[in-house]
Amino acid sequence: MSGWRALGYNVMPVSADREAAVDTDINHWGTLMLQDLQPLPVDPILGLAAACRADPNPNKVDLTVGIYMDDRGICPVFEAVKQAQRALETEEVTKAYLPAAGDENFNLGIQRLTLGEASAALAEDRVSSIQTPGGCGALRIGAEIVHAAAPGARVWLSDPTWPVHIPLLGSVGLEFQAYRYYDSETHGVNFDGMVQDLKKAVVGDIVLLQACCHNPCGADLSLSQWAVIADMAEQQGFTPFVDFAYQGFGEGLEQDAAGLRLLVARLPEVIIAASCSKNLGLYRERTGATIFVCRDPANARAVMSQAQAAARRIYSMPPAHGALLAGRILTNDYLGGIWRAELEVMCQRINGLRSTLREALEVRCGGDYSFIEREKGMFSFLGLSAGQAQRLRQDYGVYMLDSSRINVAGVNTRNIDYLADSVSKVL
Ligand code: LMR
Repeated sequence: MSGWRALGYNVMPVSADREAAVDTDINHWGTLMLQDLQPLPVDPILGLAAACRADPNPNKVDLTVGIYMDDRGICPVFEAVKQAQRALETEEVTKAYLPAAGDENFNLGIQRLTLGEASAALAEDRVSSIQTPGGCGALRIGAEIVHAAAPGARVWLSDPTWPVHIPLLGSVGLEFQAYRYYDSETHGVNFDGMVQDLKKAVVGDIVLLQACCHNPCGADLSLSQWAVIADMAEQQGFTPFVDFAYQGFGEGLEQDAAGLRLLVARLPEVIIAASCSKNLGLYRERTGATIFVCRDPANARAVMSQAQAAARRIYSMPPAHGALLAGRILTNDYLGGIWRAELEVMCQRINGLRSTLREALEVRCGGDYSFIEREKGMFSFLGLSAGQAQRLRQDYGVYMLDSSRINVAGVNTRNIDYLADSVSKVL
């Protein structure tokens, strides 16, 4: 037990008194441990998706969870993934655990994809990464490392942010502070408000940013705005923690990474939570990585050992299947080429849908919906009240979050008119 004590855990040996107390106290079923636990409210995103699945309305429209759906309303398996899967089936010789850091090929591939082939930080060997169970696992491991480095760290969150950021980072014990981000009047980023608020971020604080395709609002920073954030981080000493869940769904793989890469080029430390759920369609395979850009190679190794220990105490080893597929695709020119072309089609489809949806809403509802076209990625707010979003669900079977966040990829040629009609009726 002394080994655990050295790591900060206190495991008490059983005393003779305690054994005696347990022996005599055998009639204790009046005080069961679990019996008083009460059900919690359903998850605001997954709960609505489940409600939509259960809705018998034949016209129902599911705009809830952020998954890419094609025009048939199906979340497809990438052709590149199918080919990688076939090769893996032939070549895989073991189901033994992956190392704690995950698959080496995957780590290599995801670092290059995120930071760029020409990244100076990569060339300087001051980057480390750990394969995680999806982007959520990546956020959680990042939070664990922040907490280990600075237990009192404050995390600055955009208002609004993806609701799951709060339990994922908060359950580690980090405190939050909101910064202004989305302006519902202009449907764009309130950059002046953001800068004013972030002026209060100090050394030891974390600023959580989304690299592209902001969830939930779809409004992204411009490159010059990223440069201002880099200046502020440099001057004030806060550390950016960048959630990168939608690379390739905004403007393209390289363009979507530009803001993040600018931070990495300018700052000694950046933490990144990368996900392959969306851009490789590996949602259920839970494939992601926490990437640490550190001051020097020795520090990158030290952070990595902390990350592996954090993984060990939460889930031990990451799942293999998705990362083995992603690793193959990201490090193979042939499969990588097929994948990039497929992703490009998805990105263009979403951008096309944004224009079609704008037009359909403007025709049926009047008003200016051009913001839908300006925003990026899967999400936009339609600008409806919670009451209107609830009426859409109840009266028309159109499911979006109460905030009126829609998954644009859930719109298709069959449901777009019904959707626009339904919105016009609740306005
Ligand atoms: C979403 O925001 O809908 C997605 O990121 C899926 C999720 O886990 O909530």
